[in-house]
Amino acid sequence: MRIDLISIFPEFFDVLDLSLIGKAQREELLTLHRHQLRDFSFDKHRSVDDTPTGGGAGMVMKPEPWALALEHVLAQRETPSAEPPVLIIPTPAGEVLTQRTAQQLAQAEHLVFAPGRFEGIDQRLMDWAPEHFQVRPMSIGDYVLNGGESAVVVMVEAITRLIPGVLGNPESLAEESHADGLLEYPVYTKPARWRGVDVPEILLSGDHAKIAAWRAKQQDLRTRKLRPDLWAKHVVAREQNLT
Ligand code: ADE
Repeated sequence: MRIDLISIFPEFFDVLDLSLIGKAQREELLTLHRHQLRDFSFDKHRSVDDTPTGGGAGMVMKPEPWALALEHVLAQRETPSAEPPVLIIPTPAGEVLTQRTAQQLAQAEHLVFAPGRFEGIDQRLMDWAPEHFQVRPMSIGDYVLNGGESAVVVMVEAITRLIPGVLGNPESLAEESHADGLLEYPVYTKPARWRGVDVPEILLSGDHAKIAAWRAKQQDLRTRKLRPDLWAKHVVAREQNLT
């Protein structure tokens, strides 16, 4: 997968060189390209924002630096005839990222992230972008950040860990929280007794079928208690599969 990250703070993405995503880059499962948005602004101060037309508070990102940066990314594509890259625009007004969406996006060949700052990007850029990209305004939750960069880090991590080969043990993907719409079961390690508390006896039984059934039951109980919203969706999905 190729990922392009365009920002006035490209160094924000240095954390993506650490840990498993750094390793995935070294193993060429993933290539990350960072771009300084100001490199596409040609006035004296390399400015990328201006006052809102019509008045009001804050600053608005100018469309031209974004268009030039995005055209630069398009020009670098090795197979320009392939399907257009997915352009993810982080915004609290976007579709909230879920594990299911992360799974879909992990199939894409080329993702481009355009995190805005200030009050957002001039609407004319937003109207231009769908001619060249599959545009996805996306949020990481119902709260407001100072800019989209930290949301990009979250999205890149959630998506790229699902690319085959990125995680050492792919089985953990099938079992983790949200993989099947439920929370993960509780986990234990040694010692069998810690500060007077024993691990559930069944886990020491060696009976894999019984352990699997116990874990499935724990997933149900946990999800019902901690995330009734997810549980309600799960029940509906299960009923639909039966009919
Ligand atoms: N930019 C500001 N807040 C955001 C959020 N919650 N998700 C994505 N991008 C954002």
